[in-house]
Amino acid sequence: MNADLSAKCAPAEERGSWGSSVGFILAAAGSAVGLGNIWGFPMQVGKGGGAIFVLLYLVCVFVICFPILIAELAIGRAAARGPIAAFQTLRPRTPWWVVGALGVLAGVGILSFYAVIAGWTLAYVWYAATGAAGSDPGGFFGAFVKDGSKNVWLSFAVLVITAGIIIGGVRQGIEKASKIMMPALFILLVLLGLRALTLPGAAQGLAYYVKPDFSGITNIAVINAALGQAFFSLSLGMGAMLTYGSYLSKKTAVVKSAAWVAGLDTLVALLAGFIIFPAGFSLAGFNPAEGGPGLIFAVLPGLFSSMPGGALFGAAFFVLLTLAALTSAISLLEVPVAALVDRGWCRRKSVILLTLFVTVLAVPSALSQGASPALSKLPVFGMDFLTLMATVWNNWALPIGGLLIAIFAGWVWGADNVIAELEAEGNPFPFARAWSFLIKYVCPLAILFIIVMTARGMFGG
Ligand code: TRP
Repeated sequence: MNADLSAKCAPAEERGSWGSSVGFILAAAGSAVGLGNIWGFPMQVGKGGGAIFVLLYLVCVFVICFPILIAELAIGRAAARGPIAAFQTLRPRTPWWVVGALGVLAGVGILSFYAVIAGWTLAYVWYAATGAAGSDPGGFFGAFVKDGSKNVWLSFAVLVITAGIIIGGVRQGIEKASKIMMPALFILLVLLGLRALTLPGAAQGLAYYVKPDFSGITNIAVINAALGQAFFSLSLGMGAMLTYGSYLSKKTAVVKSAAWVAGLDTLVALLAGFIIFPAGFSLAGFNPAEGGPGLIFAVLPGLFSSMPGGALFGAAFFVLLTLAALTSAISLLEVPVAALVDRGWCRRKSVILLTLFVTVLAVPSALSQGASPALSKLPVFGMDFLTLMATVWNNWALPIGGLLIAIFAGWVWGADNVIAELEAEGNPFPFARAWSFLIKYVCPLAILFIIVMTARGMFGG
């Protein structure tokens, strides 16, 4: 390790760039599509009361997040720098670089719990292949996450693999792997959905998922969760998309690519719900609101065991889910790495130090599902540490980051400059006026309203 850290930096390389628009779309979709879609989305739907959450989520994605996705990509491409330096480039000698710095913190914080869940999916490759979850998958999951040292080792393994990929700088590898992996994941999801929808009890699950109970529409905690989930799922609000945008060429049609990324990400999340709820409701005594972080791990093994060749399907599913998680984890680690590299650190040294740091931060999350009673039910918030981390970063840090990015794009750098950047080289920006209205008024006011009301609801007022 010492030898690694004291090794000379390679001479400064040229900034990379995406091979093609398709390559960019796949890499950005690879960042967006991950545990947030397949693990997080169904869990949030369960907590948020079913179809009403789905509806609120879709509104957040298309009205609030999609305009911000366009803004992040435009900022990154215009500056051709990582998050902190991008703000310094576009508005030198102003405090706006702090937004990038917040993003760096968020990347480290999110990765620390993300790695724990990715560790679960990694272990479940083996469990699904061997049918280890047996007839009581919920009980099996409960026992599995109580094993503290196993969970710490699994998250460490995930972080080491992520670091290995990033050190190699294998843009090639990522682009190529995504081209095979994403369609495969998609096909498997459709197959699983078809199977789930034909299970007994599926109709009840389907109704829960698509028929909204509108009494929940004014519940600010649910709206806040939908907003946080939308930011998280699109990898938005912390400079990850900004960084990916910085590798774009001026020729790329950014708005069209952004529409593809948001569309694919939303499709995968919606598909996951069409699997989990019909399959869940076919189980006796299923309560979606109580699923928590273990929801998919309690439901899916039952689905696999109802299929011919289920062990194979199950193992393949968790392999693909782990890969989807890795392409997302890469984009999370890339943000702090890019910030250190921008400051003259070696890529390799930055990656190793950050990975060690995140590993330590991941320990409390890894122990929070039963291994440590204190971390599993915190005295102050009454939640487990992992859920607390997810809530702080998703529901607060990302929307606040998004709010600042919207203000920066709409008012500070200026909506007209963004539009000019995106229309460079004759690219179309359909609905540019509508976008400008959304980014200047709707996004900031809606996010501000949601976070202020949520804070009032939590702290009384
Ligand atoms: N979007 C990913 C998922 O849904 C997680 C993720 C990757 C992310 N990069 C991010 C979340 C940046 C927020 C910010 O699993």
